Amino acid sequence: MNAKKKLLVIDDEPVIREGVRRILESSSFQVETFASGYAALERIKQQAFDLVITDLKMPGLSGMEVLKAIKETQPDLPVIFITGYTSVDSAVEVMKLGAIDYIAKPFTSEEMLNTVQFALQQRVVALEGFYLRKELLDSEGFDQFVGKSQEMIKVYRRIMQVAPTDSTVLITGESGTGKELVARALHKHSTRRDNSFVAVDCTSLAESLLESELFGHVKGSFTGAIQTKTGLFKVAEGGTLFLDEVSNLSLTTQAKLLRVLQEREVTPIGGTKPTPINIRLIAATNHNLRDMVAEGTFREDLFFRINIIPLDLPPLRERTGDIPLLVGHHVRTVAEKIGKDINGVSAGAMQVLQSYSFPGNVRELQNIIERAVVLSEDSLISTNDLELGHGSTEIPANLHNRRNRRADDIKTDHLRDYTSVPLSVEDLKEIKRHLREHAVENVEKNFVISALQRHGGNVTRASEETGMLRPNFQAMMKKIGVSAREYVES
Ligand SMILES: Nc1ncnc2c1ncn2[C@@H]1O[C@H](COP(=O)(O)OP(=O)(O)OP(=O)(O)O)[C@@H](O)[C@H]1O
Ligand SMILES: [Mg+2]
Repeated sequence: MNAKKKLLVIDDEPVIREGVRRILESSSFQVETFASGYAALERIKQQAFDLVITDLKMPGLSGMEVLKAIKETQPDLPVIFITGYTSVDSAVEVMKLGAIDYIAKPFTSEEMLNTVQFALQQRVVALEGFYLRKELLDSEGFDQFVGKSQEMIKVYRRIMQVAPTDSTVLITGESGTGKELVARALHKHSTRRDNSFVAVDCTSLAESLLESELFGHVKGSFTGAIQTKTGLFKVAEGGTLFLDEVSNLSLTTQAKLLRVLQEREVTPIGGTKPTPINIRLIAATNHNLRDMVAEGTFREDLFFRINIIPLDLPPLRERTGDIPLLVGHHVRTVAEKIGKDINGVSAGAMQVLQSYSFPGNVRELQNIIERAVVLSEDSLISTNDLELGHGSTEIPANLHNRRNRRADDIKTDHLRDYTSVPLSVEDLKEIKRHLREHAVENVEKNFVISALQRHGGNVTRASEETGMLRPNFQAMMKKIGVSAREYVES
């Protein structure tokens, strides 16, 4: 990594200047030296540096003045002072002025290198914080992401930390949580950004086709191989290869993939000559690969090879604070696209959305909003415009049940039993299973109750509307414990 870092050294004493240069160059830094502050400041205007090391006391511009000039034009560029005095005063003073560190003469090469490394690391951290803060301050999120919840900020930080490295990343998360968006952001913020980002959906192709897509094939290697085909590993050369839904790879393809990753070279199907590859691999899945390893459907060695840096995306229901932002953003986007004047969603509709479980996460939210914007006859989307899927663990607020309980009460009812006791992961599984069952129950409830409501408790008409036979409809009513009488309008 050091090879890419450009350091600028300013000292009027040739011995020190050249000494520092030798130390830094021995650690593969790229170094330019200057005898005066003026010349150095000119150079900084033309060339981006990662770090400046300057003597404090020099004829002409002093180190302090150099620092001030740098802070005016490039506040992010870190500056280290070389100082003759080890006094605490001058150290504190230079730090106050914005120097990142100082080093006292005489110094060993180890001290110099440690100080430099530390300053460069600090800079990465400071820059991350700086960009994130700046991006989040007056926007809805980071990059293409919408959301400012703690959970998402963690994800953004992780992206910024990991993007510049060449490490393999395994992105996990439920369907629609933004895995592909993360993969693209990682590429965009990496040094490979000017080369291709190649996404391969491992679910879309049959095994043999997928292998020839990935590794390529030579002409005549199998029936249908009329022409030599370049594999996607080669297409992504210099860039990023995104393997989406890796859990779908067959065990044979997994073995081949592992070989390619281990050897860092790829041999096309029917070919004999391997060629080296230079790609960064990003993989994603919404399955639990550890479980698959335990079941024997995913190779453990491949799992270790791709799970170098795990990046897990939170489901939307665990960051409900982001829902209003996402809803607002999406209403605007869709309304603009179809040229409709919609201001947003009603308070009731927002409440329903915030208590909905979104099994399809952000993608599902987008679909719900898109439908609502299209259907809405008002400038404000109401609960009636929302068509929630089977992930509803609540009775939506527009379908008041008999006691007119609010959706919130129902939710806490489900959870009440679990909140006060310490839970094991087994308990968690049990609760999830329970909630899933409830979800179905509630959907059935909505279905029956809303039909009865619409028809004032008339079972015949309600069952006709739903397309069910009357006895079946009645059986369902019995199962969920509702009686038609409660819905007869008085
Ligand atoms: N935080 C977010 N902010 C804004 N849009 C998002 C966010 N997360 C996801 N999206 C959008 O939601 C949709 C689904 O995202 P994406 O395709 O990245 O999800 P995924 O995890 O890859 O889903 P799947 O597992 O189904 O492939 C996309 O349109 C994406 O732009
Ligand atoms: Mg995806």
